[in-house]
Amino acid sequence: MKLLYEGKAKQIYATDDQNQIIIHYKDDATAGNGVKKGTIENKGILNNKISALIYMYLMKHGVKTHFIKELNERDQLAYKVDILPLEVICRNVIAGSAAARYKIPEGTKIDQPIYEICWKNDDLGDPLIADNHALAFKLATKEELAYIYEETDKINKLLIEFFKTMGINLIDFKLEFGRLKDGQIVLADEISPDTCRLWDSQTNEKLDKDRFRRDLGNIEEAYHEILKRLTGK
Ligand code: TMP
Repeated sequence: MKLLYEGKAKQIYATDDQNQIIIHYKDDATAGNGVKKGTIENKGILNNKISALIYMYLMKHGVKTHFIKELNERDQLAYKVDILPLEVICRNVIAGSAAARYKIPEGTKIDQPIYEICWKNDDLGDPLIADNHALAFKLATKEELAYIYEETDKINKLLIEFFKTMGINLIDFKLEFGRLKDGQIVLADEISPDTCRLWDSQTNEKLDKDRFRRDLGNIEEAYHEILKRLTGK
């Protein structure tokens, strides 16, 4: 298989069909724009499974995505997209960079979600930008931005309910979107404990990548716990 792209946590391979790719999930973990590096044993296997389950749930509820199917422990088949150079962040509770930026204690509840966009630009450290920057820098069109916000709102509502049934509070998460060959925008990349903050509803225990970012230990166990709650096994 021809390697098309290697990111921090995944590799993308070509397939015989030029419109489809294979996403291979690695155990590598990075934080702080690559400053902190490590591996989380079995993370690739866990995130492949977790992300596939979340994608299937979203698609069942009408969200258009790049996902086709899980192939094996570490690989997924997906439609090839051009990823928009935007990270869309949705916050339901203040945490992480929002807690630091606005000096609001982590865990502070807010009455309505906050949607942020960041410019995917490693050299600049993925800066937070306004819609006007995205338009001026031609990162997305006005219509695409409107669609992305609408989809993110829909996905947030679906995911809040989904995780609630498993005793998990969805604190915040990051989404990426891509452009299919025909121009249609679809949800892309993974949704996993690497890209979401997931706190146990009873204890507020962190069951996500903050365990790695903040050296809290029991990282693999936390990811396992998420998979266990998703599958009921
Ligand atoms: P933040 O509080 O660090 O801005 O992160 C908000 C959410 O987005 C959190 O769930 C982690 C996720 N995220 C990513 O998945 N990738 C990233 O590069 C960043 C900055 C955040």
